[in-house]
Amino acid sequence: MRPREIVPGIYEVGAVDWDRRLFDSLIPLPDGTSYNSYLIKGSEKTVLVDSVDPTMESILLNNLSQLELASIDYVICHHAEQDHAGTIPKILEMYPEAKVITSPKCKGMLEDLLNIEPERFITVADKETISLGDRTLEFIHTPWVHWPETMVTYLKEDNILFSCDFFGSHLATTDQYWHDAEHVFEGAKRYFAEIMMPFRNIIAKNLTKLKDYQIDYIAPSHGPLYDCPGCILEAYDRWVLDEPKNIVVLPYVSMHGSTRIMVEHLVIALSQRGVTVKQFDLTVTDIGKLAEALVDAATIVIGTPTILAGPHPAVAYAAILANALRPTTKFASIIGSYGWGGKTVETIAAAIPNLKVEILDPVLCKGLPKQADLEALDALANAIAQKHKEAGFK
Ligand code: FEO
Repeated sequence: MRPREIVPGIYEVGAVDWDRRLFDSLIPLPDGTSYNSYLIKGSEKTVLVDSVDPTMESILLNNLSQLELASIDYVICHHAEQDHAGTIPKILEMYPEAKVITSPKCKGMLEDLLNIEPERFITVADKETISLGDRTLEFIHTPWVHWPETMVTYLKEDNILFSCDFFGSHLATTDQYWHDAEHVFEGAKRYFAEIMMPFRNIIAKNLTKLKDYQIDYIAPSHGPLYDCPGCILEAYDRWVLDEPKNIVVLPYVSMHGSTRIMVEHLVIALSQRGVTVKQFDLTVTDIGKLAEALVDAATIVIGTPTILAGPHPAVAYAAILANALRPTTKFASIIGSYGWGGKTVETIAAAIPNLKVEILDPVLCKGLPKQADLEALDALANAIAQKHKEAGFK
């Protein structure tokens, strides 16, 4: 399948990882992923754009061997994370004349993470260019996508943006380009939620910076390429800038059924009031689906029983995760059942300081929910629907 040509003289040489199911020991990968690496032949210089995860080193090397290269002059490192940088030491060993082109901050990180010697680097300033003879590379610093050192590369003569994690999707596929739009869009949105959402504001600035460029192709380092870059650029504009929608995300755990009764009652009550609800049983849910749902949610309602005086640990984990992902969510509440007391509400509220939310009155009941508890849930549904309406969320 690779090497695979994009345009004459530019090849995909990376690896598809069909079987990987967890990234960073944190992120589920239901559809696998890929580590895209690219080889650019200029009339005078040859460049490798990023490498692959070290577990896929042999695939990259085999793909390069098929191109019968006399040398590699430069290795561009957009991002120091090991899924892209991890095979660079091997490339430098095989091509002793090769230099790593990277941002000053990434140089330090590569020295720390991969023990690459300082003399192997060429650091580039924002918008600096390097000629390959008949082709010109421009390096654009795009910090915090999603580490502080990240940059992208624009290939001027071919209008290709090599974007590394930016615009990526964890998707193993034989498709070279975004053809199965719905599938890829879901993958890209999920990827945005898990990786990019915490840096939404600075990513908006990076998107503005890219508007100066005529981009015909986006070649990310995960998932398929885009030969219709407008579709993913517009999606990112929406995800970073838009107001949330008339949606409640409701992650919950129920141990003996009481909290579940409350969740089901609230879901129906919200639905009857025209609010869309996305309900997630945290004992079985894919946490990536929850993250994706948070991109658009105006409200998060957390459902939990009280266990050992606090929330269920799976709920505490979800609250910490939501706090770290920093969605644009505006309102929050807590519902659940307890046996004899505890500090569930205080514990969850303390876990989500990054969410700039208005806390709506929680509904906690003792044991099975009674009529008064169900009426309190109706009141919560009223409050949420009213808040969404007043804010104009659609
Ligand atoms: Fe795909 Fe942040 O590495």
